[in-house]
Amino acid sequence: MNKHYRYRRRRGRGVYISPLPLLAVGALAVVLGVFLVSRALGGAEPESPDGAQPPEPPVSQDGGGADRPRQLTTASGIACTLTELGEEAVYTGDLILVNNWTPFHFPADQASQLMCVLENKSGSYYVRDATVYLLPQALDALNRMLDDFQSQGGSKSVNVVAGHRTAEFQQHLFDQSVERNGQEHAEKYVAKPGGSEHHTGLVVDFSLFYSDGSSAEYNGSGEYAWINANCRNYGYVVRYETGKEALTGIWDEPWHFRYIGVPHAAQAAEQGLCLEEYIDYLKQFPFEGEHLTIQCAEGTYEAWYTRGTEVYLPDSGEYAVSGNNVDGVIVTCKIG
Ligand code: DAL
Repeated sequence: MNKHYRYRRRRGRGVYISPLPLLAVGALAVVLGVFLVSRALGGAEPESPDGAQPPEPPVSQDGGGADRPRQLTTASGIACTLTELGEEAVYTGDLILVNNWTPFHFPADQASQLMCVLENKSGSYYVRDATVYLLPQALDALNRMLDDFQSQGGSKSVNVVAGHRTAEFQQHLFDQSVERNGQEHAEKYVAKPGGSEHHTGLVVDFSLFYSDGSSAEYNGSGEYAWINANCRNYGYVVRYETGKEALTGIWDEPWHFRYIGVPHAAQAAEQGLCLEEYIDYLKQFPFEGEHLTIQCAEGTYEAWYTRGTEVYLPDSGEYAVSGNNVDGVIVTCKIG
């Protein structure tokens, strides 16, 4: 019970001696030969012509395993219970990946969770108007980040110009961009409706607004480099960076910050991974294998990935659960 569970079948105690061992070895060789020949004749995944990732297999509701013990303790001593979270868990949480080929699943109750930035912001930045809304965790982190930016010498000139967007508004922005700048430009900088992270309520876009009434594009340089370098300590990542266009589908946007929570923002930034890469990276840490340990500004965390929605959750302590919006769930547990 106190052992770290490894997803391995037990070996039998006795040794079974076949009366026809050579026949069995021969049959195995034939099966292996057929498999190798079929691979050589084109069994590999075809590549997408536009470089887009191939679609993920459908979500398995049984987590891909069977007969798993109900209770297990991790190697680090976290007692866990196997829990069915329900399908929505895959599509909900701070870590969900959203892009043009991984659309957001609009939850019916999202509007009730969003908060008006104008009514809840600190005094260290501006906001475009009362139509900018965010989820509470993203707003709280934004307030703390820009308060600290100002405390360490930054000016009050950051203007939050975008937060949550509906699919209809995203369509309007896309059409407007096509009209103003052409299709090619629009596709580089504006996600398609459903494929925009802005739908999540976990994203802010910055602009600059000066006391003389002038404004400028936010590019994360000069004094603002502090924000882009330190946003990980508040749970934000700079989502679209040069060199990752083929993975994200979007060109460099130093003004677009996505909240994914402090431990994962720290780890993704440390590893130099965009969210598409990070979601894949997390799959290296299934519950049944070695877990990810993250040391960040808020302490030490242990995280594991589970395919499907039947997940081992800690029995106590501070932990967060998030879907990846693809095929499973990540549990992140504070351990120090
Ligand atoms: N500008 C980002 C990519 C969006 O439209 O969501």
